[in-house]
Amino acid sequence: MSVSLVILAAGQGTRMNSDLPKVLHTLAGSPLLHHAMQAGRALDPLQTVVVAGHGAEAVTKAALAYDEDAVVVLQHEQLGTAHAVAQAAPVLSDMSGDIVILYGDTPLIRPETLEALREARARHAVVVLGFHAADPGRYGRLITDGDELHRIVEFKDATPEERAITLCNSGLICAEGKLLFELVAQVGNDNAAGEYYLPDIIGLARARGLSAGVVLCDEAETMGVNTRTELARAEAAFQSRARAEALENGITLTAPETVFFALDTVVGRDAVIGPNVIFGPGVTVESGAEIRAFCHLEGCHISRGATVGPFARLRPGAELAEDVHVGNFVEIKNAILDEGVKVGHLTYIGDADVGEFTNIGAGTVTCNYDGVMKHRTKIGKNAFIGSDTMLVAPVSVGDNAMTASGSVITEDVPAEALGLARARQTNKPGLAARLRARLLQIKASRS
Ligand code: UD1
Ligand code: CA
Repeated sequence: MSVSLVILAAGQGTRMNSDLPKVLHTLAGSPLLHHAMQAGRALDPLQTVVVAGHGAEAVTKAALAYDEDAVVVLQHEQLGTAHAVAQAAPVLSDMSGDIVILYGDTPLIRPETLEALREARARHAVVVLGFHAADPGRYGRLITDGDELHRIVEFKDATPEERAITLCNSGLICAEGKLLFELVAQVGNDNAAGEYYLPDIIGLARARGLSAGVVLCDEAETMGVNTRTELARAEAAFQSRARAEALENGITLTAPETVFFALDTVVGRDAVIGPNVIFGPGVTVESGAEIRAFCHLEGCHISRGATVGPFARLRPGAELAEDVHVGNFVEIKNAILDEGVKVGHLTYIGDADVGEFTNIGAGTVTCNYDGVMKHRTKIGKNAFIGSDTMLVAPVSVGDNAMTASGSVITEDVPAEALGLARARQTNKPGLAARLRARLLQIKASRS
């Protein structure tokens, strides 16, 4: 049976104390919303509907950036979670199959958990994801009898006995779509908060003689983000999970607790990651590559056998082919480095193509920006760029060509040629000694 997703993301997130809608705050390099969408993607949804309200324009943009087929519906007033789900009815009510409801601010749900929720639907008309809370606080409480879920009571409406229950509602629910919208339409707001509570559909389903069940997950997975402190806590939880997974997948992390991954980081087996490496979004590292200490990587691809760092920065569009070496204090942006290229030290390569086995000397800079526009530098294969070469783009250096150290290259260097663009040296015999004596004299006369 097919499944569609409804992701609730209309809330303001007042306690974040922020101008940004809560679901757009960043966790592991991506908005919270993308984490929920990514978890849901594991169910191979037919349709994903995001319910937006506060900051709807920005939330819509973010939703479509993750999945251009997602549909965003608006909830103009936040009247409660059932009211939020009802906004998705026009999009989904004609669709057959199940619906899974996720929260945009609950980023740590594992795909396996969503699959378990799905599977339990074979046994129950409605399934709720629950957890045993160490401190149940203000969560809704699950009133169960063995395998059967009777109803959910919100903290505000609960009796002291009900509040003593530690089995809590994560908020995630799976139900058959048509039934879900029928039940949601029946929910009223006669309760302590005056809100339309989604959890009320459990009692309504039971009243129809339908069965409701609970699937349990670890409390860590259901952690919602409501404050900056919780955001930091979620980041820590995400990172410790990502590190454990990396180690499990055959990646060496010398100091795991100092490595930070992004939601979409891909690292191949037998890669070696040194201490204090930070992955921004969009990084792939192939098997056997080595990232040494203190590198910052973002939007780049590092091929098999390449070594990067220590202290290197790879920015979006950096493409390193096999066996490329990028050394310390090197920045690469929007540049393709073919097989075996070496950029060892203190260099900026931006908007450039570098042919295979070319060596770039220390202190080389591609001067790619004229203050208004960006320009490209093309360097052929087996070239040798002397230390401290300024390559003023647009400019090209041919195959097997060289540039002399300290050159400011403003014109193309043909293949096989040496580009030399610096003042000729003259030596003045004895002048250094005479100059030093004169300076010492001046200093003495002052004291
Ligand atoms: C909800 C559940 C509670 C559960 C808890 C788990 C209800 C009534 N209660 O409570 O049983 O234990 O989650 O975290 O559902 N949202 C909208 N529109 C609205 C209201 C909420 O989009 O009108 C979104 C919020 O942005 C948020 C999610 O739904 O992502 C949950 O809403 P929230 O107000 O945080 O519910 P809780 O009071 O935490
Ligand atoms: Ca909440």
